[in-house]
Amino acid sequence: MLFEPIDINGLQISNRFVRSATHEWLAEEDGKPTAAIGDMYDELAKHEIGLIISGYSYVNPAGKSSNRQQGIYDDRFIGPYRQITERVHKYGSKIALQVVHGGRQAMVTPKYPQTMAPSAVKDLSSGKTPQAMTEEQILGTIEDFAQAMRRAQAAGFDAVQLHVAHGFLLSSFISPYTNRRTDDWGGSVENRTRIIQEIIRRARELVGEDFPIMAKMNATDGLDDKGLDAPECVEIAVALEKAGVCAIEVSGGIFEAGEVMSRPGINAPEKEAYFRDYARMIKQGVGIPVMLVGGMRSRAVMEEMLEGGYADMVSLSRPLIREPELVEKFREGVQEAECTSCNGCFDESGVRCNSGR
Ligand SMILES: Cc1cc2nc3c(=O)[nH]c(=O)nc-3n(C[C@H](O)[C@H](O)[C@H](O)COP(=O)(O)O)c2cc1C
Repeated sequence: MLFEPIDINGLQISNRFVRSATHEWLAEEDGKPTAAIGDMYDELAKHEIGLIISGYSYVNPAGKSSNRQQGIYDDRFIGPYRQITERVHKYGSKIALQVVHGGRQAMVTPKYPQTMAPSAVKDLSSGKTPQAMTEEQILGTIEDFAQAMRRAQAAGFDAVQLHVAHGFLLSSFISPYTNRRTDDWGGSVENRTRIIQEIIRRARELVGEDFPIMAKMNATDGLDDKGLDAPECVEIAVALEKAGVCAIEVSGGIFEAGEVMSRPGINAPEKEAYFRDYARMIKQGVGIPVMLVGGMRSRAVMEEMLEGGYADMVSLSRPLIREPELVEKFREGVQEAECTSCNGCFDESGVRCNSGR
């Protein structure tokens, strides 16, 4: 099944492999994407990846959360992004832009000294307490996301992916741990997903009915005794589908939960695909394609995920940093990725494999 095509809301993808969004630390300081990012995607597309999801791209400068992160908050970025999408399309791969606001995990800078989030819940990883967003800030952020999607479409992206994972702003809205609001934007699942419903409603006015809007969502915050987790994550996924999301990538973890998102030490098949049970639960609840991410290293496990009904696509980040040609190698008979899950690739001088192996 790994090499069978799939259709996402009319978007034909040649196989089941997704390059999961991976921040490259290669944009200019103002967020403008560079040719070096294009070089990376070119390499992935040349080696047969079905769908590339870009590094997370911020929709407003106040929502930037890392140095040299790419941005999509201004029309002046449309041209440089178009150069990137044209390179990818030469090979027949598809490319989506991941759009994000950092929320309580955004950078604090002299210009943006105060982070914002649905509620003023202190981030235990940074010690920063965000400001609870006003209604006006929420409405402004909805517009920021919608305008970002308009730019993505104008730049030739085949789809966008809303970043609703890893503790960033939209993820903090869906989580009962970080969203304690008692107004229309908090409380029930309907209310906690309202910001996403409104983003999609407004985006549809700008990008039309058919442009694929996907989401990467937390199924678990990764906090032992609190936060988002099963079974509520299924209700969230169902609400996202109802809002118009056409594919869901299942992930987990927020900053203060530690190494939940990119778990280290994946050295045995039973440690692979660590969000598999969440993905299966979500897949049983929704009718749209489900992508699974997190710790897949062997071809056999990836096949099992598709054939066993856990997911429709497999999404990889760290293995493709080490081996951008991995999909082609799998097709030629290689069984295992070389990635050792050491997390040395989180390299602020530019994403790369730093494993000594
Ligand atoms: C260097 C690095 C940068 C990442 N940047 C992003 C990102 O921009 N957006 C995102 O949703 N996930 C990001 N992730 C998480 C990955 O997409 C993925 O969910 C996680 O690493 C688990 O998958 P893996 O075991 O295949 O690496 C990043 C991971 C790494 C290693």
